[in-house]
Amino acid sequence: MNILVCGGAGYIGSHVLKHLRAKGHSCHVLDNFSSGHEWALLGASCSKADILDQAALDKIFSARPFDVVMHFCARSLVAESVTDPALYYRNNVSGTLNLLETMQKHGVNKLVFSSTAAIFGEPQEEIISEAHPRQPLNPYGHSKLMVEQMLQDFAEAGGLDSIALRYFNAAGADPEAELGEVHEPETHLIPNILLSLLDGESRREFKIFGKDYPTPDGTCVRDYIHVNDLASAHVLGMEYLFEHPGAHVFNLGSQRGYSVLEVMQACEQISGKKVNYQFAGRRPGDPARLVASSLLAQQELGWQAEYSLEQIIETAWNWHQSLS
Ligand code: UFG
Repeated sequence: MNILVCGGAGYIGSHVLKHLRAKGHSCHVLDNFSSGHEWALLGASCSKADILDQAALDKIFSARPFDVVMHFCARSLVAESVTDPALYYRNNVSGTLNLLETMQKHGVNKLVFSSTAAIFGEPQEEIISEAHPRQPLNPYGHSKLMVEQMLQDFAEAGGLDSIALRYFNAAGADPEAELGEVHEPETHLIPNILLSLLDGESRREFKIFGKDYPTPDGTCVRDYIHVNDLASAHVLGMEYLFEHPGAHVFNLGSQRGYSVLEVMQACEQISGKKVNYQFAGRRPGDPARLVASSLLAQQELGWQAEYSLEQIIETAWNWHQSLS
């Protein structure tokens, strides 16, 4: 397949890109490098461009034939989306609309889209299925849900088949340690714990946000999913689209939840170091528990998470050590 990987220099996009190339697909990347990294391309061809720039999109689609577009470009910080909603609606919604219109103009009609658990809002069920009510709590979640709606409408109008993959907590790194998570600022749990365990300049203080949640140990529970498991879901999703026209949505998680304290203990075990931590107040907008049902993805795509929490942390630890 000829695949355009939008956002292929970012954390999730670069792992999927490596996976696609290893499977023999021909990939071209579009990235504006606002948060992506040149090294994460591992030599893949790339156009430095922004999805907000319609003329640049036109040029990329005119230069090469694409069978499928995978779309990872997005602003994705919940707190930032609350203080700067325009950034989120412009990039995530208007940018995606540009991309869809360019695809249509150039006769490209298959899209794999990165959605998120943030579209659900406050969970009303222990295990979140695709049918769970969608009531986002912040502009980030709203922007992703708006795109899901656009994809439904474009499919109904005919001509665009899509699959929206709703990631729960993406984590871990390339087992060969060529790729991994590098965000600035880093807000995610596992890298923040591991960064606190490193020696030298990269060492950071680790805080647990909230100890009074209605969970067994009082800290938030999340469903951590390895980026390579997300990558395999993208390949299966792409194949599924060729057999099943229309707009589809799948939750991607492991159906297992771990608390912040459990994740911290697993990090201590794997690194052989003790985390120096402090409890802090709750982080605004954090639901107590978010765990995905992976039943639909299993039934329809034949997909399930393969990496354990230990493997997620091991790969991330190897990656962070290789950087320090
Ligand atoms: N946490 C800490 N300390 C930290 C970082 C995180 O205690 O330094 C806690 C958070 O409060 C939360 C849990 O660890 O309880 C997980 O936090 P992350 O920031 O790693 O992940 P989130 O669950 O907040 O975010 C994920 C995705 C977002 C998505 C969101 C949906 O990364 O893109 O789920 O709710 F929007």
